Amino acid sequence: MKESLLTEFKNRFGTEPTFYASAGRINLIGEHTDYNGGFVFPGAIDKVIMTAIAPNGSDNVRVYSVDIDEYAEFGLNEEDAPEQPWARYIFGVCRETLKRGGTVKGFDAVFAGNVPLGAGLSSSAALESCFAYALNDLFNENTIDKFELAKIGQSTEHNYCGVNCGIMDQFASVMGQKGKLMRLDCRSMEFEYFPFDPENYELVLVDSRVKHELADSPYNKRRASCERVAKRLGLETLRDATMPMLKAIRSDITAEDYFRAKFVIEEKDRVLAVCEALNAGDYETVGRKMYETHAGLSDDYEVSCEELDFLNDVARECGVTGSRIMGGGFGGCTINLVRKDLRDKFTATATARFLERYGHEPKIYPVVISDGARKA
Ligand code: GLA
Repeated sequence: MKESLLTEFKNRFGTEPTFYASAGRINLIGEHTDYNGGFVFPGAIDKVIMTAIAPNGSDNVRVYSVDIDEYAEFGLNEEDAPEQPWARYIFGVCRETLKRGGTVKGFDAVFAGNVPLGAGLSSSAALESCFAYALNDLFNENTIDKFELAKIGQSTEHNYCGVNCGIMDQFASVMGQKGKLMRLDCRSMEFEYFPFDPENYELVLVDSRVKHELADSPYNKRRASCERVAKRLGLETLRDATMPMLKAIRSDITAEDYFRAKFVIEEKDRVLAVCEALNAGDYETVGRKMYETHAGLSDDYEVSCEELDFLNDVARECGVTGSRIMGGGFGGCTINLVRKDLRDKFTATATARFLERYGHEPKIYPVVISDGARKA
């Protein structure tokens, strides 16, 4: 990727670039908990967005996306927002860096990636983190704290892309380390690295290659439900809510809001149970919790879809230890905790059964937990 970026960059701009990369992410457990002040358990993966970039001495950004084969040029003022959705991520990162008192000047960039799009592996967070890291190194002598780089990405989603996301994806993309998952407390923002290298198991992603998300932003709607219930309970977030508290207000809220909040409350406890089980080397419990998360995401949070429920059923039938939908939902991947001796049988069965049912093969990715944002 680096060589082809260099050639492309030199052909277009004729100067010497510096290279930066940042990663997509997986999440072991803790879904839709980040914006509720709960816990998440992600790690960065070996799929990245990489950019070749150099200051150009002007006040303009000139950037080419190799994968989409599109070029954009924009200024750095609020009114200069580009039209192309992919360019808005980069514009947003520039603006959010400036809003925080950072320096951004004109630059030229060419970028490409191998994070599958729409698979729930956070290609957009990888793009934001890659540019946030690059601007920090090129123009700010790395004085912007790494956690702040993640927040720059998150604010970009909020203010320039219309997604009211939590911090998980950008956090994982920036802070990820090889061989380690991270448990993040999204209220205190404290986090801890957990080495993850189980002897007899591995994590496998099965990408359904479907995306059902509709224009009315079901993600933002889920978040609004949670905020309504928290407010009704007199809490800042659902982090401090319990099932008895929720049951006590059941008749005052809609059934939909009730089930959304129920999922979030139960998911918080599952993350903590998984941490305990991991410390004890008890992967059977980790797996059971993953299945419970899938059921909650499907029945109560309603962010699954037929294809992902099908993959979850196939995993269970194959004796896979744990399986669940991963990320925001409405398509994308399942993440599976599989005994090594079962891996080949499972991936072959899932591929054949999915093809037979839906007419296309899912993609299988082994999870390699890798470094996040970096100079490449
Ligand atoms: C998306 C968001 C994250 C998180 C997950 C669900 O990936 O960007 O902030 O809310 O969905 O866990």
